[in-house]
Amino acid sequence: MVNNVLTLRELPNPSDLKEKLDAQGWLIIRDEVCSVEQFEQVSKLWFSQFHTSATRHDRNQSSPDGLSLQVRSSGHLLAHAEGYYRPCLPPPDVGLLWCKTAPQGAGGETSLFDGAAFFDALPTAIAERLEKEKVIYELSWPKDRCNLEFSTSSVKRLVKMFEVNKSISFNFNIDEHLHLHYHAKAVTEDTLGRRRFINGFLAHLPLVTHPSYAGNVFTRPHNGVYWQDMSPWDSIDIDPIIDAHDHVMQRHRWQEGDLLIINNHTHLHGRVALAAPEAREIFSRFAYWSHGEV
Ligand SMILES: [Fe+2]
Repeated sequence: MVNNVLTLRELPNPSDLKEKLDAQGWLIIRDEVCSVEQFEQVSKLWFSQFHTSATRHDRNQSSPDGLSLQVRSSGHLLAHAEGYYRPCLPPPDVGLLWCKTAPQGAGGETSLFDGAAFFDALPTAIAERLEKEKVIYELSWPKDRCNLEFSTSSVKRLVKMFEVNKSISFNFNIDEHLHLHYHAKAVTEDTLGRRRFINGFLAHLPLVTHPSYAGNVFTRPHNGVYWQDMSPWDSIDIDPIIDAHDHVMQRHRWQEGDLLIINNHTHLHGRVALAAPEAREIFSRFAYWSHGEV
């Protein structure tokens, strides 16, 4: 049995943390982080480069350095790896989530998914198709969102960046609203040939009708997810993937002060809906291993 609860003393350096995350995918540090400020300080023991989340930019008011954001609490959020939907920029390597207020009633867990187990649980026909084909994210972002995603307000610069990327087709309308299709793999393969379902597709769906989630799950009507031939993912594709999702899901039941650290390239994360409205305060930040640091 892997011990996922560790102490800060056991992880003094980036290399210690990386070794653990490579081996077991996620871990918990319990009762050692008491505030958002301390959460930020502790994360800087291991990381100097952080990912900025454009979608949660309006919720960074509680964070001194602006990089820890309070996550949403309402509804389910299906499994995803952070930042995989965005072309041109690398997704973060590690997710860090810290609990200020733990929910007391049912639900509210952060869900965790071993991407390899997820891939193995997929129906064979879908797994084989995902191995062979790319899947397409459709994005429709107004100018402000686009600026935040790519940290630039220059459409010229974005056009230059997108034009050389063969995975993208795009256009900007007169208001500089971006409409983009990004062809990406849903399955990764490591040096040992282990395949993992690692991507952001389930958190990018325009609609979910699976009976366990319909009406209480994060979706974005302006997004789209398509097979390589541009046929949209519909419930015939999505529901069996969600069945596999539910089969491999682990739930982290939060305790106040927990720090959860996740390998973003091997494990997906999500959220289980609260059974009834109540306080749930979780802060997240996402980081990169810097070259030379590990
Ligand atoms: Fe996330």
